[in-house]
This record gives sequence, C-alpha cells and structure tokens, in this order.
Amino acid sequence: MASQDSTYASPKWWKEAIIYQVYPSSFQSHPGNTTGWGSVKGITSRLDYLKELGVDVLWTSPIYKSPQADMGYDIADYEDIDPCYGTLADVDDLIRELKRRDMRLVMDLVVNHTSNQHAWFLESKSSKTNPKRDWYIWKAPKSINPDGSPEPPNNWAQILGEANSAWNYDQVTGEYYLGLFTPDQPDLNWENPEVREAVWDVMHFWLKRGVSGFRMDVINLISKVPSYPDAPLILGPGHKYQPGQQFFVNGPKLHDYLTEMNRQVLSKYDALALGEMPFIYDEDEILKAVGARSGELNMIFIFGLVDIDNPNVRMALKPWTVREMKAIITRWQRTMIEKDGWNTVFIENHDQPRSVSRYADDSDEWRDKGAKLLALMQTTLGGTLFVYQGEEIGMRNARSGEWPPEAFRDVETINYWKKVQTLYANDPDMLSLGRKVMDMKARDHARTPMQWSAAPNAGFCDPEVTPWMRVMSDYKTVNVESQMQQQSGEDSDGELTTWQFWQRCLKNRAEHKEVFVYGDFHDQSPADPNVYAYIRTSSVDSGDRWLVVLNFSGQKQRFVLPEALELESWALGNYVSEKTPRKPLGRAVDLQEWEGLIGKVRR
Ligand code: GLC
Repeated sequence: MASQDSTYASPKWWKEAIIYQVYPSSFQSHPGNTTGWGSVKGITSRLDYLKELGVDVLWTSPIYKSPQADMGYDIADYEDIDPCYGTLADVDDLIRELKRRDMRLVMDLVVNHTSNQHAWFLESKSSKTNPKRDWYIWKAPKSINPDGSPEPPNNWAQILGEANSAWNYDQVTGEYYLGLFTPDQPDLNWENPEVREAVWDVMHFWLKRGVSGFRMDVINLISKVPSYPDAPLILGPGHKYQPGQQFFVNGPKLHDYLTEMNRQVLSKYDALALGEMPFIYDEDEILKAVGARSGELNMIFIFGLVDIDNPNVRMALKPWTVREMKAIITRWQRTMIEKDGWNTVFIENHDQPRSVSRYADDSDEWRDKGAKLLALMQTTLGGTLFVYQGEEIGMRNARSGEWPPEAFRDVETINYWKKVQTLYANDPDMLSLGRKVMDMKARDHARTPMQWSAAPNAGFCDPEVTPWMRVMSDYKTVNVESQMQQQSGEDSDGELTTWQFWQRCLKNRAEHKEVFVYGDFHDQSPADPNVYAYIRTSSVDSGDRWLVVLNFSGQKQRFVLPEALELESWALGNYVSEKTPRKPLGRAVDLQEWEGLIGKVRR
C-alpha cells in the first residue's frame, strides 16, 4: 500500500465523483429547436436522468462561441456561448438546476489554442507590430524556394491531418503561425505573461459563475521547445511532415505554467483540475502534474489504454493483446497508490471509438455482455470515474462498411481520407485499409446522436428536424427508454439491461468507495492471456476485500483463485438473471464468454 504519509485515500469530492461527459452537439436537443444540434436547454432537461443513473458531475465538451471547425475545440469567445447551444442565461439555469440536485458542472477549457476567429488572433495577424502579435507563435519562413514559395519554419505535421504542415502562411505579413491541430486553431504563445493572465481571467470568470472546475484540453502542449527544431523522420520518406511531439509535449516550461495556474487560480477555489495529457507515458512527468504534493493538477487523462492500438498516429491500427491491456491498467493503478498520485478511470470520450467495439465484442450476440463487462471493470478501478454519453447503454461503432465516406464529419477523419485517397489512388488494398481504419478508429463513432428512444431521430431532436450527424442505425434496439423500462433485476428474474447494470455498478461503487475508489489494488492474473482478475482492499480498517474476475475473450475460461483466497459470496455479474450470481464458491471459477464477476473475499 501507499507510504505512511500518503494522502491517496483521503476523501475529496472530486475523487469519488462519477463524472459524465456530454458531447453537447449530440446529447439532447429541445422541443422546437430546428438546428439539428443538441443544446444547453436539452442538457438541463436530462439532469434527472443523469441523477437516476448515479452521476454527480457533468462535464460538457465546449459550448463557447465557435466556428465549429473542430466541434467547439476552436473557441472564438471564452466568455460567451455559441448560439447553436443557447445563451449564458441557459448555462446559469443549468448550473442552478444542477445545484438543486446536488450536482456540479465542469467546463472544457481549451487554451492551448483559440479559433482563428478569436478577436485576439484577428488582432495578432493584422500586423507584425500589433500589441497582440506575440500572443501567438509567428515565425519567418525557413527558406524561399526558387519559385518564390516559402517553406515552413520546420517539418512538424498537423495533428488532425498529418499530411499537412502545422505551420500556416499568412500572405499579409509574410510569416507563418503555428496551428498544431488545424489551421483554424492557432496555438497561443504561453511564453507571453499577458496570455497567461488572460487565461487566468477566463478561469475566474467561469469559477465565479458557479462551475466546479475544468477539463483542460491538451494542457501538456502549452510549452514548446523554443528553438522549434525539425522532427525526426518517423513516418518514412514519403511524408514531408512528421510528428513533432517530442518538442511540444510536456515542454520545458509546462510545470512552471501549471504551478502558476494553481497559485493564481485553482488554489483559490475547491475546483476540479483535470488535465488532458496526450502523448505522455513517462511516470515522473505524470507524477509532477498529479502527485498529491505537486501543486499543479488533481488528475490527468493518461492515454496508455486508449492509445493501445495506435502506432505513431491515431488514425492507424496496431494489433494488441489483452495481456498488454491489463499491464497498462495495472501499471497506473499501482503507480498512483505507491507514489501518491491520482488516477482517472475512462475508456471512452468524444475522441475515441466506442469501447464495446474496441475492447470487447460489439456483435448483436455479445454487445450487451461486453458492455457490461467493461462497466464492471470501470466501476471497480481506483481513481475518478468518467462515463461518456451512450456508454451506459452500450452504444457501438457504425457497422463496418455501413457508412459512405461522406457520412464521416470530423475534420480528422476528413483529412485522413483525403490523405489516403491522394497517396493510394490506384491501390485498392490501401484504400480498403483506409476505410477499415475509419470504421474502427474515427472519432465520428462516438459523436452520433444519443439514442434516447425508438422514436424518429432516436428522440434526440424533433422528428421533422434532420440531426447534424446521422443517428446510428441500431437505435430502435439500443436506446435508453427500452433499457430503463425493461422488467428486470430487483423484483424479477429478468437479466439487467446494460443501463440497469451500469446503474447497479455505480451504486455498488458509491456504497463501497473505500474499496473501489480509495482502496488498494493487486493484479491476480498478470500472465493470463484472457482473464483480468484483481483484488481491491478497503482503505479503512475494516479490511474488506473484493475479487474482480473479467473474461476478456469470446471463449470460456477457467480462473483458479490464489491459494490464500476464499470467497464469501458473489455480488455482481454480467450473466446472471438473479440479483446475485448463483455461482459456485470453489477454488476455480468457470467463466462464460465475456463474463465478469465480482465477489467478496472471506476474511
Ligand atoms: C483534444 C480534444 C479534441 C480536439 C483537440 C484539439 O484532444 O479532446 O477533440 O480535437 O484537443 O483541441
């Protein structure tokens, strides 16, 4: 367990909260709204639903004023709401309604970059002498080609379109600006103290308005290596531009900036400080940010698990094994306990394909079992738990080949498909591999409208309105209404639906938070290629111990209990029709395909 002076198990609201992520464009529209987009009013109308599921905190992806080049992750005004979502008054109302239910709101803070339509950037690009010129990262061309065309300052590739340069030429002033994600998202220059002050102001603005913290978008990208060197050629010679991650991920001043943010803003509130930190797996770097005494953030999203099938870039496929998956999870469970940090537990968000399609089996036969298996795992791991909209009903990716390329709306997918078509126009195998990557990895899969019911548009918006993004074709069978209504569980012998199972698992986590949120963690099956089994031990003197056994395969498996372990009872399982699993309590557990169980260990 952790050292004597560890604060790992000291209670905090943001440790035990169940945080539900809403993707606002696709969560819920409101009656009479003809835009085909979700809205703030729509979110407010679903708070009772979230409460019933067991949610405490709602995090919404950006709803600020934005041209929506990257679905709101390109902000044009940090202190106003985009008209497609509503008004500031609607947000005040949302905060009030959340408070009434003892719930909280967390906003997305996107301050590595702004929109190219933000007033700061419009000023910055207006002339080399504008006072805001230095708020962004401007550089002269590296060279001028014989034909007079300029070359970008270095070879860094755009993150959401790696065939393109991360630098964008501005004809008027003859310089390039850096836009790591897309040209519509110019990176702010955090070296400039005025920029940092402006960010602190934005944070105070929202915290004073009643929000309870921030999920900080790509916060580990805010400090760049000041010499802006060329990146190594890891994508091979056919690629002019290369991932420059090593020069802008956890850069030289990151920890200074986060410490300053903590001092200037976070320390003055009891706020959640959650950083999104892609591309970093180094333990020391991560602990600098989330160590209990770091004075920086409370927790970060570590990308190990969701990067498991990514080689150098996200839109690609890499084979992986269950053993690797288990090792990643175990590593971060143990690290945070031993080194007094704090974990996030997440497996889905708006940037990832659906988890049941990725880590389990999303066929009609196994979808429900797989989604419940993942629910059992998520709700029994240590750290702050995040549930992404639709995960609670086991929403899955579009069926392979079902969508034509035009159905994909995300800028990353569009850039990817453009690249594949340009590079491999005459290579049917590569074109079909490209389609496969889209079917398995595109962010679009997580962004389809929430499936509320079997009504037209899945109840997401009025029947006569066309949703901004196509509704998944399985909404008549996979939807909230049917999963909440089905007779099951407590009073009958019927099996719980995915939704009911999530609700039950969340309740179990809340009832035993000293075990599942704050407790110790020990992997019991590191070598097993299919079964993930671990023990969670209560952080308080009661010493309660629970065994979790998860079969991550489509074959039956047997798990033999460790010598010193005897089970008192099974408590929850994804296969059973009864309230508690009627499984034998012997030394070996026979598991069905994708079966998961948790049981109490005898003392
Ligand atoms: C984060 C967001 C993603 C966005 C990117 C740029 O990774 O989650 O959706 O495209 O940052 O803001």
